[in-house]
This record gives sequence, structure tokens and C-alpha cells, in this order.
Amino acid sequence: MNYFLMYLGIAVFLGFLTHYVLKFIKHKSLYPFMPFKYNFRRRRVTFDKTLSLLSERNIKTIIETGTSRKGLTNTKGDGAGTFVFGKWAKENDAKLFSVDINGDAVKECKVEVTHQELQDTVTVVLDDSLNFLDAFEDTVDFLYLDSYDYCKVDTVIQEKSQEHHLKEFMAIEQQLHKDTIVLIDDCGLPGGGKGKTVVPYMEQKGWEVLIDAYQILLVHKDSL
Ligand SMILES: C[S@@+](CC[C@H](N)C(=O)[O-])C[C@H]1O[C@@H](n2cnc3c(N)ncnc32)[C@H](O)[C@@H]1O
Repeated sequence: MNYFLMYLGIAVFLGFLTHYVLKFIKHKSLYPFMPFKYNFRRRRVTFDKTLSLLSERNIKTIIETGTSRKGLTNTKGDGAGTFVFGKWAKENDAKLFSVDINGDAVKECKVEVTHQELQDTVTVVLDDSLNFLDAFEDTVDFLYLDSYDYCKVDTVIQEKSQEHHLKEFMAIEQQLHKDTIVLIDDCGLPGGGKGKTVVPYMEQKGWEVLIDAYQILLVHKDSL
């Protein structure tokens, strides 16, 4: 009986240990840039490289399409790009514009922008990204495409999302320059993800893929 309890205790202990070790391995933080508790999971590798490039290239103007609709709470699911790149922008005297078509998403994001004291750096705009990009007159140093929600199973939504991300790129293309960085979210998904149509278009125009993972990171070949 005593042996039984002892083995049971060991088994329970090993179970807990395995659980926490696996959890730790899966936890992909951007520490020390962001507090350790935030898990960026499949975006960590591309966010990390993008943050280095932002510094190397002295980026000043950032546009994100599709805002962090859940503030900083959904780093695992959506990425919380508004806050990662917004924080970088604040620390490096840059500006970030985040555009979203959904009023609730904009409202929610603005609350967190104020909470993080990013209101002088981050402007959250309620608009269709295509209108916003079309009207944007300054040059853009970092473009993050992450709007029209993708669906893993519905091929009609997949095509609409892919088409929308191509149109976004085409709407702002004239404002990009050889040192602009482009990051596209939600690419490593069934059906090719958000980047399926826009990436080949960009490659024809001289852009090169630096990282092709869950997200795709591109720079212009003239900058390499
Ligand atoms: C995946 S979320 C963006 C996540 C955010 N970039 C982040 O890192 O947390 C996609 C957002 O795109 C927005 N969206 C969808 N279609 C849009 C459009 N045509 N113009 C602007 N935003 C759009 C949705 O309302 C949604 O809030």
C-alpha cells in the first residue's frame, strides 16, 4: 500500500513536471523587449527579426492593417502587433497608424493604447484599409498586412482575404521605398493564407522573402 502511494505520488509529480516543461518550451516570449508573460508563439521568429530590422533601418512610419482588437490580451491568437510595434515606435521616435473597419475593434484597441501610454505614438483609425491606404500620402517604412480575417476551411473567404491583401499592397505600393519592410500575417495556413496572392506579385516587383514561416517577411532586393 505504501509502495502504491509512493508510485502514485511519483507519477503525479512527473505528470505535473512534464506539463510545465512542455508549457515552458511552447512559450515563445519576446523578452526582454516585451514582458516574459506574453506568448507570441508562431509569430515570435518573425516579430523578432522585424524588430531588429526596424532598428537597423531607422524606421519612422509604420502602417498596420487590422488592429489589435483585443488589446494586449491576445498575443497568442492575433499577435497584438499594434502594441509590439507601437512600443517599439514610442521608444524610437516613430509613428504607427493602425486601421480597422470594425468600430468595436477600434474602440477596444484605443482603450489599450491609452492604458499603455501610446496615444502620442499610435493612431487607431476607423476605416476600410483600402480607403486609408489609398489616401495615405507619406512614405511608409514598415507595412504590416493583417486585416480581412482568413478562414482555414472556407475557400471563398480565403480567396477574398487573399485578394484584399493584394489590393492593400497595390493601394500603398507607390509610398514604399527600397528600405521598406513588409510583414504579412497568417500565411502558414491551409489554402496558402493571407499572403498567397500578394507575395508572388511582390516578388515580380523585386521583393524578396526573408522569412517564410507562419508570417512572411519581405524586403526589397535593392536594400540587400
Ligand atoms: C486578425 S485581426 C488583426 C490583428 C492585429 N493586427 C494584431 O496584431 O493583433 C483582423 C482585423 O482586420 C479587420 N478588417 C477586416 N477587414 C478589414 C478592412 N477591409 N479594412 C480594415 N480592417 C479590416 C477586422 O475588423 C479585424 O479586427
